[in-house]
Amino acid sequence: MKVLVTGAGGQLGLEILKKLKYEKIQVIGLNKSEMDVTNIKIVRKLLLKHKPNVVIHTAAYTNVALAEKEPEKAFQVNSEGTKNVAEISELIGAVLCYISTDYVFDGESETAYNESDVPNPKNTYGTSKYKGEKFVQEHCSKYFIVRTSWLYGIHGSNFVEKMIKKAKSEKVIEVVADQFGSPTYTKDLAIFLSELIETDKFGIYHATNYGSCSWYEFACEIFKELKQPVKIKPITSEKYMSGVSRPKNSVLENNAIVVNGFSQLPYWQYALKNYFKCLNISK
Ligand SMILES: NC(=O)c1ccc[n+]([C@@H]2O[C@H](COP(=O)([O-])OP(=O)(O)OC[C@H]3O[C@@H](n4cnc5c(N)ncnc54)[C@H](OP(=O)(O)O)[C@@H]3O)[C@@H](O)[C@H]2O)c1
Repeated sequence: MKVLVTGAGGQLGLEILKKLKYEKIQVIGLNKSEMDVTNIKIVRKLLLKHKPNVVIHTAAYTNVALAEKEPEKAFQVNSEGTKNVAEISELIGAVLCYISTDYVFDGESETAYNESDVPNPKNTYGTSKYKGEKFVQEHCSKYFIVRTSWLYGIHGSNFVEKMIKKAKSEKVIEVVADQFGSPTYTKDLAIFLSELIETDKFGIYHATNYGSCSWYEFACEIFKELKQPVKIKPITSEKYMSGVSRPKNSVLENNAIVVNGFSQLPYWQYALKNYFKCLNISK
């Protein structure tokens, strides 16, 4: 098997590369400067050159707040870019594994979302990623759509890093307590993806660490784990005023993982512990 990873300079892309290399799977990682997914000529040229059996498409415009100010850029990358990758993957007969998001849901549900729930994104980022999903379904005969949430890992900028940085300069950190989701460690997701792409169990998957919490509870767990006495104040989304509407409940039920016989991803608290261990080792 030969795998090509788009967005290979991102936090998930780098983790996938590491995992596949470890598994001795032939893998080519292309970052934005090597393959801008919005340029179909480049996408065609490089996919035809490398002829992978599987394309894992992680490249995305991921700044949720900024997407409200520059929606055309978000749609260009997340929707049109995905269409390019989908079209060319199909052309070369490759399986496409598209990484999508919990933000395709509006968050109004009282319960966790499963794979058959109908998306209804409430912000530009979510809408652009959902449009990407539809292009994948329209253009590809063999695809995985993997929705994940609240990613963090040892590469790149994420909520955990931001909290640690804030604690250095702020006496009290205010964190939103009325949005719920599942923090997900990129290393655990990469393990699942490496198993998934070995199969032909195509379709939509929700893949997150097990369990859920609010951003506030996530922040508390981070400092509990670090044994750092930081004052954290729970606030509402209204008070946070980020200029972007986010789902209140974006917890994803990982149904397809269970039904298709894959292992559930570990509990989110366990994953966080493991992340700090890996971080110390890698420093
Ligand atoms: N982060 C989360 O909490 C989260 C949650 C749910 C789903 N996801 C999805 O998971 C995937 C991976 O996210 P991540 O956290 O690893 O994001 P990330 O660290 O921002 O990585 C995305 C990568 O895509 C690259 N990229 C942007 N525009 C591109 C283009 N036109 N062509 C090629 N590459 C481009 C970025 O490069 P530059 O940095 O140079 O722009 C970056 O290296 C994304 O599809 C995202 O939508 C993320």
